[in-house]
Amino acid sequence: MTLPRRKMIALTGGGVVLAAAAAAGGFVATRSPDTALAPWQTAGRYDDPRLAALSWAILAPNPHNRQPWMAQLRGSDELLIWRDGSLNLPETDPFDRQLTIGMGCFLEVFRQAAAQLGFAAKPVLFPDGGDGPVARIRLEPGGRPDPLFAQVPARRTNRNAYEDRLPPLDALRPLASAVITEASKVAALRTLTWEAMRIEMATPRTHLESVRMMRFGKREIEASPDGIALRGPVLEALMAAGLLTRKGQADPASGEYAQALAMLKSAMLATPAYAVITTRGNSRRDQIEAGRRWVRLHLAATGQGLAMQPVSQALQEYPEQADLYAKARKLLASPGETVQMLGRVGYAPRAAPSPRWPLETRLIDA
Ligand SMILES: Cc1cc2nc3c(=O)[nH]c(=O)nc-3n(C[C@H](O)[C@H](O)[C@H](O)COP(=O)(O)O)c2cc1C
Repeated sequence: MTLPRRKMIALTGGGVVLAAAAAAGGFVATRSPDTALAPWQTAGRYDDPRLAALSWAILAPNPHNRQPWMAQLRGSDELLIWRDGSLNLPETDPFDRQLTIGMGCFLEVFRQAAAQLGFAAKPVLFPDGGDGPVARIRLEPGGRPDPLFAQVPARRTNRNAYEDRLPPLDALRPLASAVITEASKVAALRTLTWEAMRIEMATPRTHLESVRMMRFGKREIEASPDGIALRGPVLEALMAAGLLTRKGQADPASGEYAQALAMLKSAMLATPAYAVITTRGNSRRDQIEAGRRWVRLHLAATGQGLAMQPVSQALQEYPEQADLYAKARKLLASPGETVQMLGRVGYAPRAAPSPRWPLETRLIDA
């Protein structure tokens, strides 16, 4: 749907939002997707320590919230972790690099949860080579509790505009390859990350990959608790009024596409600092390690009361991003290194938790 110009202006000013919210009445107040958020409440409530640790690990960050992890229990103390290739993102993650980073996040949260329960989780990565499981893990008594684990339930990917003040970031520096606060570099990264996002949205096949992942409102989120969850009173009111639709989001000529672009831009530009994870090599093991480091960084930031959001578009390996990819590499890494993660850091209003599939749906029979 193409919004007439007048309606778009009203939308920008918030008038239509309020009108739509009023029209929807009490409807919007009851739109929390409780079932899809239940895994945040039930984590840890399992007797088998492998299941207990897995129930925490599924809360890990992962690209587009695909949750590609699958676990297979073996014997009494072992498990295999697989990555479900049917959930790949071939357009924006053509080499499965980011999905592998997500598996690294998962393995790190698993390790922390197991340690909390008194077990050392000893993973053997890619025990059958690249095509088999991502890890074989044996739980053995031991493990040292990690203070970062306390932040697992509170961690969120925060896509809000961040406040225009620099937070103290010393606690994050040892965990990141770089923390960038220098005004000229921050300005360059704002432009770079925004331009990369604009390219992703202007490239039909990469944009449609994201649109296909969008879940519009409570009903869709409960039916498919993954992907990009569009929810909350304002967005649901817009949906109810027909002003936020799958068709409109997919159509670059529509007013709601322009609106989404403008909202993304103002949030992304409102960034006081960035954090980076780079690696010397770019093997699957390097990517797993990058994921471990990223989630540790994000958990540490959470502990400091800071918001974070990966901004990955310029790091993605498809032809339309090639120029920005090269620029990002030059700005953020030494020659030969790979920039695995780039994220915004700052103070922001708290973000809502994202949905998760229940653990039971991620288990495969031995
Ligand atoms: C490798 C990787 C890349 C990501 N890239 C982005 C990104 O470019 N933009 C974004 O908003 N979130 C990005 N995310 C965050 C995920 O979308 C997020 O973790 C997922 O939706 C689950 O939400 P949660 O982190 O709040 O639990 C990325 C996460 C990972 C692990």
